[in-house]
Order: sequence, then C-alpha cells, then structure tokens
Amino acid sequence: MSPTVGFLVFLILTLPLLAAVVRTGLRGERGAHIKLVVVTVISLGITIYYAERLGELYDLESAGRITPIHLMIAKITVVAYLLPVVTGVWTWYDGKRKKLHGAVAWAVLALTVATAVTGVMMVLRSTPLE
Ligand code: HEM
Repeated sequence: MSPTVGFLVFLILTLPLLAAVVRTGLRGERGAHIKLVVVTVISLGITIYYAERLGELYDLESAGRITPIHLMIAKITVVAYLLPVVTGVWTWYDGKRKKLHGAVAWAVLALTVATAVTGVMMVLRSTPLE
C-alpha cells in the first residue's frame, strides 16, 4: 500500500474506533471498551507508521514553523496515550477514578485532533521531494 493510501485508510479507520472507545467507556461496557482500546491503539500505531512514510516523500522543513510545532505535539500525544491506559487500569480496580480517567481520555483525544490538524497543515505546506 502506498504511504498516502495507507495513511488515509488507517486514519479513516481509527476515527470511528476512537468514537467507539468513548461510547463504550461512557456506557460502562467494560469488556467491549478494553477490546476496542487494544484495536484502536494498533490502528493508531499503523496510522503513525504510514504518516512517517508519507513524511519521507516531502521536504517537511520547507513547511516552516508548523513542522517543529507538529512534531512536538505528536511526540507529546504518543507519550500521553499512556495516561488513559494507566488511569483506565486504575478505574477498573477502583471505580472512584472514573472521573479522572474520563478527563484524561478527553485531553488525549483533544491532543490527537491537534496532532492530525497540524500534521495535515504541515504536509499541505511542504514541497514534495524529487
Ligand atoms: C485511548 C484510551 C482510552 C480512552 C479514550 C478511554 C475513554 C473512556 C471514557 C470516555 C470513559 C467514560 C468516563 C466517564 O464516564 O466519565 C471510560 C471509562 C472507563 N474506561 Fe476507558 N478509555 C481508554 C482506555 C482504557 C483502558 C486501557 C482501560 C483499562 C484497562 C479503561 C478502562 C475503563 C473503565 C473500567 C471505565 C469505567 C467503565 C464503567 O463505567 O464501569 N479505559 N474510558
């Protein structure tokens, strides 16, 4: 699969998966929630793999300031995904942690949107190589 097609396919797959993670979390459907988290994280990982391959086709530095901004947000987002995992396991054993887990989950989702938006801006402003 070409990097462009792979990136678009997995991005389009990941978005409804993330929505299903939130829906099952809010409904307290724990079994489905955990399975969806695993599938979503794998799908997100494949999206990142294709995004990096896509980036190799462009001179990303030509996009200007958006490139370091995007790369910083992207790194923070990847590390931040540990937070809903840790607070999710905590919530599993102690239901009183649900509010914290929900807040962390929404923050990570907001970071995910910021990563996607700045990433698209970066690629659109970059000069294709060759
Ligand atoms: C990307 C990762 C995740 C996201 C976006 C997410 C999102 C959510 C959301 C929005 C809620 C509802 C919170 C509320 O009602 O205020 C929730 C609940 C919950 N999540 Fe997650 N979650 C994630 C990962 C995990 C993981 C890894 C676990 C456990 C291993 C987990 C366990 C739970 C549990 C036990 C609940 C409470 C369900 C109940 O009401 O009984 N979550 N999650």
